[in-house]
Amino acid sequence: MPIETRPLLPNQPLFAAEMTGLDASKPLTPAEVAAFEASMDKHAVLVLHGQNMTDEQQLEFTKNFGPLQVGANTTLTPATMRLGGAFADVSNLDKNNKRLERDDRRRMEALGNRLWHSDATFRIVPARYSLLSGRIVTRNGGNTEFADMRAAYDALDEKTKAEIEDLVCEHSLIYSRAQLGFSDFTDEELHRMRPVLHKLVRTHPVTGRKSLLLSAHIGTIVGWPKPEALAFIRDLMEHATQPQFVYSHQWTQYDFVIWDNRTTMHRVRRFDDLNIVRDMRRTTTMSEGPTVEGQQAA
Ligand code: OGA
Ligand code: MN
Repeated sequence: MPIETRPLLPNQPLFAAEMTGLDASKPLTPAEVAAFEASMDKHAVLVLHGQNMTDEQQLEFTKNFGPLQVGANTTLTPATMRLGGAFADVSNLDKNNKRLERDDRRRMEALGNRLWHSDATFRIVPARYSLLSGRIVTRNGGNTEFADMRAAYDALDEKTKAEIEDLVCEHSLIYSRAQLGFSDFTDEELHRMRPVLHKLVRTHPVTGRKSLLLSAHIGTIVGWPKPEALAFIRDLMEHATQPQFVYSHQWTQYDFVIWDNRTTMHRVRRFDDLNIVRDMRRTTTMSEGPTVEGQQAA
């Protein structure tokens, strides 16, 4: 069956698309990898339905698209992880497949995904693709929303484009968690999660298109007073997440959704996570390099 894509939004033919004709549980040919990347460069978000696969198959598929991004800055240790270290466990389950309690610290951290963000921008080399497999999904809430940061950039007026062209932001997990009032960090964590720098305007290495690099992890703009920076970032966030830039994905079981973090933001919507199981497993690959050179890795 040939690989085909069909846009999911009538008014945004160049954003989110459904892809058919690809079995993600099987090894890909170089031609399939190239076709997939070309579709990602075009649409930024791809939805593949009916992809019932094992963790190993998801990992194999992921490795086609760059080095794995592993060991995100979380409080999980190998002893408390439900999934292998190459996975981001985006479920509401603990190691014994029990739902997280209301005040569990892991749940507090997971709530950060309700804020618009781009994955791993708290790292010097942020994420390229995120690949999210819906093993047990919810239909009452729990949609994942995506915003097209290329279209959002294009829609800015020329004065704003010029103003932001060379701006650099500080990103840290500490900032995104602080937005939700979570500030209970040890000195070791504060050190490990110290801010990294990213350009506010990012150019896609293949298409050459510019996009806004926004994320809940932003804590300030370098050289700006912090309140002025955060007020401006909030304005840009509001602009970039207007309905005309957004695709909302309602999950069906075994959907496999892949997005390019270099050109999109996303967030999960509220659902009854204390009573309903949602088992989502994410693998992630790394971008081609830092957006700001000269930073020392932790
Ligand atoms: C993620 C994420 C959203 C969701 O996996 O990076 O933000 O829908 N998840 O669970
Ligand atoms: Mn995310």
